[in-house]
Amino acid sequence: LEPQKDEDFRPNFHFTPKKNWMNDPNGMFYLNGTYHLYFQYYPEDNVWGPMHWGHATSKDMITWEEQDIALYPDDNGYIFSGSAVVDRNNTSGFGKDGKVPVVAIYTYHDPVGAENKENDHQSQAIAYSLDEGKTWTKYEGNPVLPNPGMTDFRDPKVTWDDIHKQWLMALATTKKTLFYTSQNLKEWKKLSEFGEGTGAHDGVWECPDFFPMQVEGGEETKWVLIQSLNPGGYNGGSGTQYFVGDFDGKKFTPETYMEKLGEKHEYWIDFGRDNYAGVTWANIPQDDGRKLFIGWMSNWLYAQEVPTQTWRSAMTVARELKLVKEGDRYLVTSEPVEELKKYRDEDHYMEEINVSGNSIALDSEDLDLARAEIRFTIDDLQEMTYNFRLSNVVGEEFIVSYDHAQKQFSVNRSLSGQTDFSQDFAAENSTAPRISDSDSLTAVLILDKTSIEMFFDDGKTVMTEIFFPNQPWNEFSFASLEDFRVSELKAYELKFERPTK
Ligand code: FRU
Repeated sequence: LEPQKDEDFRPNFHFTPKKNWMNDPNGMFYLNGTYHLYFQYYPEDNVWGPMHWGHATSKDMITWEEQDIALYPDDNGYIFSGSAVVDRNNTSGFGKDGKVPVVAIYTYHDPVGAENKENDHQSQAIAYSLDEGKTWTKYEGNPVLPNPGMTDFRDPKVTWDDIHKQWLMALATTKKTLFYTSQNLKEWKKLSEFGEGTGAHDGVWECPDFFPMQVEGGEETKWVLIQSLNPGGYNGGSGTQYFVGDFDGKKFTPETYMEKLGEKHEYWIDFGRDNYAGVTWANIPQDDGRKLFIGWMSNWLYAQEVPTQTWRSAMTVARELKLVKEGDRYLVTSEPVEELKKYRDEDHYMEEINVSGNSIALDSEDLDLARAEIRFTIDDLQEMTYNFRLSNVVGEEFIVSYDHAQKQFSVNRSLSGQTDFSQDFAAENSTAPRISDSDSLTAVLILDKTSIEMFFDDGKTVMTEIFFPNQPWNEFSFASLEDFRVSELKAYELKFERPTK
């Protein structure tokens, strides 16, 4: 048996560039039936380098088609992360002959300035497109937001704030999120800052996102700030925390329970190691109303060393975010977008699975575990540890555990196959205690060749992890020291062809 390598690891359905290096998702917007995804891209090598914006389009956020590179670096520097908006009312004046401009707002990173340790080597710039995001013209008045002397000053996320009728920019600096306002996307004025003394700070804040959300099942609106940081994620390395609070048009005030100084921040979009720099789509029609999110499915700890050569990194599956209230706490939940259901093929349904020791629930005769959705429910939880396990014919395994005494999920990928490309990869990762009083556990697992995305309790606790087994997983089992029963399991093979090379 030849061990898997390179193209054997290319996901069946998660977006990957055909060639070379990708990191953060950028500039996502929806227009006329098409979802656009741009991404940090280095077309010349399979490690990070002078950044471009790559481009991909999709009709459903699941199947992607790579397009020509959208933005190339120039004399002002590399094109770092940022966002895009559809400027319907032509506030920028870039529109022509009735064509609606799409405006991208990105960071220029001047590599020479960075090399010379100049504090002001990052600034914000804009570009516009009059052909729905295919080709772009950089604005001659760039930068629109020069650097006031900060080492980290990047990743502008712009949204139309319909409550206060303004363009709003959230921008990351080392330990803070900065908020700016504009009426025309060209002139920006600082509103306020957030973050000192709040949240996780064992790293640099990057890639914010900021928007209002209606609480599920009510009329209440709260503002959500998504704020990635690297390192210093919940399990070390790259991670994406969030805050919920109020915004008066100028200043963001988080819920007081979120400002626990000196304590570990417990609110994260994802507790896994492999969901970073994720942000939401712009211009989703009002009658849709969903908050749609995608993240980079890797981690700066090892992204440049993972055992693929032709390309490096994939995006997560697109997800819908919701805001729910659990007791007195607001939680941002995520679940795979419903469009994924269209790809469901054969289903397997089982009830009352009695687990004693290790019980195989599904194997590769039932369905291909490299393109599968598995849903299960365990009722009547006891104070014990429940394990779920992927394994293969060469004895490798990926283990997920839920310890109901601690109310904590954890994963162990130390025996999951190829791990020695980085000493940081094999670690055990765990979540903050589950925020739910329910004595039932529901799980949705999305499986591709090199990733698992786990959504527990309707997406209140999420973990995304990548792996590189030497042979494909061929068994999914439940295991425990004590007997238990899985009330219900539903599994689907997802209809995806192997991507063409
Ligand atoms: C996050 C990040 C951003 C930056 C980009 C550069 O992963 O470091 O802050 O804009 O990547 O590629």
